[in-house]
Formats: sequence, structure tokens, C-alpha cells
Amino acid sequence: MTSNRTGESTSTSSSASIGIEDLELGASHHVLDLGRLAEARGVDPAKYTRGIGLDEMGVVAADEDVVTLGASAAARLLERTGTEGLRTVLFATESGVDQSKSGAVIVHGLLGLPSSVRSVELKQACYAGAAAVQTAIGIVARRPQEKVLVIAADVARYGLGTSGEPTQGAGAVALLIAADPALLAIDPVSGVYSADVDDFWRPNDSTTALVNGRLSISAYKNALLGAWDDLQAQGGPGVDELEAVVYHQPFTKMAVKAQRFLDQHTGGRLDPEALEQGAVYDRRLGNTYTASLWAGLAALLDHREGLEGRRIGLFSYGSGSAGEMLTGTVQPGYARPERAAATRAALDARVPVTVEEYEELHERLLGSDEDVETPRVTTAPFRFAGVQEGARKYEATA
Ligand code: HMG
Repeated sequence: MTSNRTGESTSTSSSASIGIEDLELGASHHVLDLGRLAEARGVDPAKYTRGIGLDEMGVVAADEDVVTLGASAAARLLERTGTEGLRTVLFATESGVDQSKSGAVIVHGLLGLPSSVRSVELKQACYAGAAAVQTAIGIVARRPQEKVLVIAADVARYGLGTSGEPTQGAGAVALLIAADPALLAIDPVSGVYSADVDDFWRPNDSTTALVNGRLSISAYKNALLGAWDDLQAQGGPGVDELEAVVYHQPFTKMAVKAQRFLDQHTGGRLDPEALEQGAVYDRRLGNTYTASLWAGLAALLDHREGLEGRRIGLFSYGSGSAGEMLTGTVQPGYARPERAAATRAALDARVPVTVEEYEELHERLLGSDEDVETPRVTTAPFRFAGVQEGARKYEATA
């Protein structure tokens, strides 16, 4: 290790543990009960609640989008943690608001962060959140006094009346990545998998995703088992060393299927109760794409006792496709009843919409060719105010 003129370490690697210091889940203003959607589509509600494992889906108000969801979650997180050491904001999304400008710089401005904080957006379908966490860990490994704000935020949209429709949703998770983390120390070794597959994608001229549902489930399975095998090849922990695995959950039954695939593959038996604990928030959010895995982690930490010192797995899948199996050790004092209560309250506070109101919001898309002011609806810290001269404008609500 060498030192610079201020005596600070200039080593290029660190043996300090790095991971999640704290996290915060952000919900949309509205919610749609999937029982109502089932009734409107002439489907047995049990198909949604039991068959795919979702009870509700988040619906964004006219003055919300991924930037407001992400910035609002990040503001609450930074209120607890402060911003000391924060030098990077990484914004992971696949429903970004601009083809060039990143959501990260807009969030950076809304949060009033200093100009000496780098800001960038990452995309690879639902996998970008995990890619952002790994990027953040790399930054902190080089300079352990730095912290990175990772925001995973998405609004999942399929066409009205399509089979993907009940697997929509909206939400965000903000994570602070730091050395000697208070919640989860992430292991340096992980298992990765990439394969070019057309299972789910969104062309530049489409506001809704295109999907081959059956292919997407088999592509997810291939990525899960491929990432698992790579984890083993890299010397990562075996299945007996894991207390639980949290999965990317576009619908919570996908996590049940994933665990079955993994058990069959490894010959182990991961705890099925952990699946239910890790699904508590995703059942109510719907698919939050890049945020879904981290909402699953938040739910597990909030609902499972005795995790101190235990190692858990985190499987991220992004269509197209990329998968990664991360593992990490839960830290003492991880249980935060106040954070869990605030998350429950935020989900409970969402304002229900009828199917007609949801359809109207779903079809309401603003172009960039005329100036528009959005109605004031959300009570979150930040709102999307409208479009001026083609640019999207944001503001604080208070
Ligand atoms: P579908 O054709 O509407 O549904 O598509 P189904 O007929 O396959 O039924 C679904 C389940 O409900 C089945 O259970 C049925 O038996 C059951 P399973 O056999 O799977 O265990 N069912 C019932 N259960 C109780 N009572 C009833 C009843 N009727 C049926 N009355 C599908 C479902 C998920 C494919 C569709 O919604 C879809 O295409 N969703 C979007 C794609 C998706 O989420 N894929 C997941 C893997 S890809 C991924 O995770 C990435 C993604 O997040 C995007 C990204 O990375 O960016 C999507």
C-alpha cells in the first residue's frame, strides 16, 4: 500500500468488507387491486393471486415517473445516512425518461448534491440494479472512504389486455453502498451468466415491453443455473452455506419456480418460508424490474429473524439476458422495525384506482413536441412538473 501527500491510502484494492449500508423502498402514489383487474378481464382472481402470486400493482400518478420514485426514495435514505463520502450516484432503470440524459443527473439536482458527485444511468433490463451495485462496490474497493448511492427504479408497462398486463408495477429502491456496511456485506465472488435471447425487450419506438412469456421463464432458468454453476466454479459458497436466496421476482411465483429449479439442480432444499418472507413487498408492488430483487431483500430483512451472521444469496435476472448470483453476510443489528413500519405505511398509503382510471393513466403519454403542465397529484418529496421546450421538468412538492 502507498500513501499520497495527504497521507490517504492510494492502494488499488482493499480487504475491507463492502456492501449495503442502508436501503429505502419507494412506492408509487396509486395502486390497483389485481382482483379488480381480474374481474375486468374476465379472469379467475386466483390466477393472479395464487397462479402468479401478485395481489396489487403500483400505478404511477400523472406527475410521477422513475425519476420521482427514485429521488423520493433516495431523499428518505439520505435523511438517515447523511451524504458524507458520497461521490457517485448510479441510476439503474429500463424505463428511463430520456435517451441521452441520465436519470442520475436529474436526481442529483433534486437532492441538491454537490457538483463533485459523478452521476450516470445503467441499463440491462432488470439486471441493471445488480450491475450498479457491483460497479459501486468496485468504486468503494478502490477508495473505501467513498460511498455510492445506487437507485433502482422502474415502471413496468405491457399492453392493455396482454398476458403480461397483471405483471406490471412501479417502485424504487435506493441503496447506499459503503465499506464496513451495517446491513449486508457482499462477497467478492459471484456467479455470472450472459446469453443473447429475445425473451423480453422494448424497441425504441415502443412505450410497452414485448415479451415471449414461456421463453422468458426458460431464459430466466438458464441464467439462474448458469450463474449458480459459475459461482461454484469461482469457489463461491455451496447451497448448504446459504440461509436463504432472494430472487428477481417479476411475479412472486417466479421466485417459487426459481427455487424449485435450484433445488433440483443442487440436490439441496432451500427454506420455502424465506420465499414468502422475501415476497411480502413484491406481492404489493408488482414487477418493479431493476428494483424487484432489492425490494425482495428489504422484505426478507424486515420479516425474517435470526439472520445475523448468516449468508444469503441474491439472484438478479435481466431479460435479453444477464444473470448474476451474489452472496453476502447479514450484519448484526440488521432488523430495523422503524424502517419496516415506514415501508408498510407507504404501501398502505397508496391511493386505489379503478380499472378505468388505471387504463387512462396507462394510455396517458406525454410527447416532447408541446409544453404541458402535469396535474398536482403525488405527495412524495418530488414530482414531474411537465414538459417545457421538449425538456422534462421536476420539482420538490414542499
Ligand atoms: P399466462 O399465459 O397468462 O398464464 O402467462 P399461465 O396460463 O401460464 O398461468 C400462470 C399460472 O397461473 C400457472 O401456474 C397456472 O397454472 C396458474 P404455473 O403452471 O406457472 O405454476 N393458474 C391458476 N392458478 C390458480 N387459479 C386459477 C389459475 N389459472 C391459471 N384459476 C406469464 C403468465 C407470467 C408468462 C405472463 O404474465 C407474462 O408473460 N409476464 C411477463 C413476462 C415475465 O414476467 N417473465 C418472467 C421471467 S423474465 C423476467 O423475469 C424479466 C422481466 O422482469 C423483464 C426484465 O428483465 O426486464 C420480465
